[in-house]
Amino acid sequence: MCGIVAYLGKNNAIPLLIKGLKRLEYRGYDSTGIAFIDKYKKLAVIKKKGKIKNLENAIPEGLFSNIGIAHTRWATHGEPSDINAHPHTDCKGEIAVVHNGIIENFRAIRDFLVNKGHKIKTDTDTEVIAHLIEENYRGDLLEATRMALNIVEGTYGIAVISSKEPDKIIIARNGSPLAIAQNNNNYFAASDASAIIGNSESLYYMKDKEICVMSKEGLNITTLDNTPVTPEFQKIEFDLSRIEKNGFPHFMLKEIYEQPEVVMNTIRGRIDMENGDVRLNGLKNYEEWFRRDVNRIIFTACGTSWHASLIAEYLIEKLAGIPVEVEYASEFRYRNPIIDKNTAVFVVTQSGETADTLAALREAKKKGANVFGICNVVGSTIARETDAGIYVHAGPEIGVASTKAFTAQIVGALLIAVYLGRMRNLSYEEGKNIIENLLKLPAKIEGLLKEHDKIKKIAEKFKDNKNFLYLGRGFNFPIALEGALKMKEISYIHAEGYPAAEMKHGPIALIDENMPVVFIATKDSIYKKVINNIEEVKARNGNVIAIGTKGDKKLAKLANYVVYIPKTIDVLIPILTVIPLQLMAYYAAVLNGCDVDQPRNLAKSVTVE
Ligand code: F6R
Repeated sequence: MCGIVAYLGKNNAIPLLIKGLKRLEYRGYDSTGIAFIDKYKKLAVIKKKGKIKNLENAIPEGLFSNIGIAHTRWATHGEPSDINAHPHTDCKGEIAVVHNGIIENFRAIRDFLVNKGHKIKTDTDTEVIAHLIEENYRGDLLEATRMALNIVEGTYGIAVISSKEPDKIIIARNGSPLAIAQNNNNYFAASDASAIIGNSESLYYMKDKEICVMSKEGLNITTLDNTPVTPEFQKIEFDLSRIEKNGFPHFMLKEIYEQPEVVMNTIRGRIDMENGDVRLNGLKNYEEWFRRDVNRIIFTACGTSWHASLIAEYLIEKLAGIPVEVEYASEFRYRNPIIDKNTAVFVVTQSGETADTLAALREAKKKGANVFGICNVVGSTIARETDAGIYVHAGPEIGVASTKAFTAQIVGALLIAVYLGRMRNLSYEEGKNIIENLLKLPAKIEGLLKEHDKIKKIAEKFKDNKNFLYLGRGFNFPIALEGALKMKEISYIHAEGYPAAEMKHGPIALIDENMPVVFIATKDSIYKKVINNIEEVKARNGNVIAIGTKGDKKLAKLANYVVYIPKTIDVLIPILTVIPLQLMAYYAAVLNGCDVDQPRNLAKSVTVE
């Protein structure tokens, strides 16, 4: 999704801004641009469709400026093009704005501005902000920006510079994250901490409706209605090497290989072996409420996090016996969800910034629910707005397709299921057994990752297919959905996930020798039923790729290709079965020459509705 970087200080802004933009690449983008004050104190803007390389090529060598703003754009209004790229300027080219979010009333504002004689150059919603500031400018950039923001409706994180007041940057936030850092007389702002780490040891995350002036005199933060704000800077706990590729060709592959470590990080400090239980300090303040009162749980999330929520449903119902419902956040926010004082709402999110999930969280809170997060990014908006929750500690996930965060979310959900279960009917023996097996999981994942050559060969065989069907049952049904999502989002091959038994209610019509069908057929309580479904596909000449359990010779005879996972207990199976599917999607994409880490049209964190 769109990204913002801003810098003001003693050094050359241009390379710092480009470096920041590169750190934001993982969010997904289609164009980039920078604006800075040149040596004649004039505003200069350079912007290009496509990769940051295109922008770098367009910047003349030897440019120097102490102040600038930059942007990676992910189109919402207006196609990706040089002209629609940010920064956007006013009529006279004196004010430049970069913006994340969506201005919902931009059409009305544009009509108003056109009537006033403004010349609007682009199809974007952002450009109206530059013109509104111009319209309201009476010698004070801060005041003009404040007035403009009081007119716009929607979400924004913005950074503004102007040749009229060439020594300051104005930044403001409403619903779209912005962090500020300072180091001596150098000031940074960015929509994502990764763009500014390494430059400062601490960060301030702006709150909604706050506006800040950065200048040589320091930071001046107020609310939009002019109440002074004293920023509380937090120490950045961020290991720079974790956002680099460490010798892997792609972030996605690196992140797939990090999964053994991620599982350990999610469970670290949370195991209470003596009691066959887990400790979740993040839920401590609600422990009694969970024990006595909670009789229903709603999970809400988007995309891969929604798939993890489906697994959470199976886990909590099985281990804790509490009814769980799972809702797409985008639907939840527009329904009238029934929530009472005994309903717990969990939001699951890697980024902690997904607009639909955030809106669902706010809707649930408005209805009086206690809302808990299962979140990866520490300090993100969702992490801050939930009443309590757990971090999954997957570390920064840079590849747009979520892999390690998904695994960490399932582990997080399992910990919650054991925690709730032990308060109810889950026995000490069962709790202990789950934990013991969980601790063995990282080594099993390591072993499974060694199957990469075999999985690559399967991907080679099927990479030119136009369609895939993914089928699984029980815990493996959400894995079928996730496997299909991974395949389509990075290789652009159409793939559908279904509960295996649903196949006969429609999708079976698609099966012929050209349809690869991925079955997740592990030795669990519904194994025999899945085998029957495989037989049905084989009877129609379908090509079966099976993910099975080590030692299952019958499956090898039945399927065209098999990848085996090590034996484990039922509740841990989805953490293993997803791994070959992640690798298969990865290799299919690489072999088809796709941009694995930044698939077309996709954004890492979807901060617009
Ligand atoms: C798919 C993927 C997306 C995200 C979804 C929610 O690989 O990454 O489907 O899962 O956009 O994002 P978060 O988890 O950040 O709320």
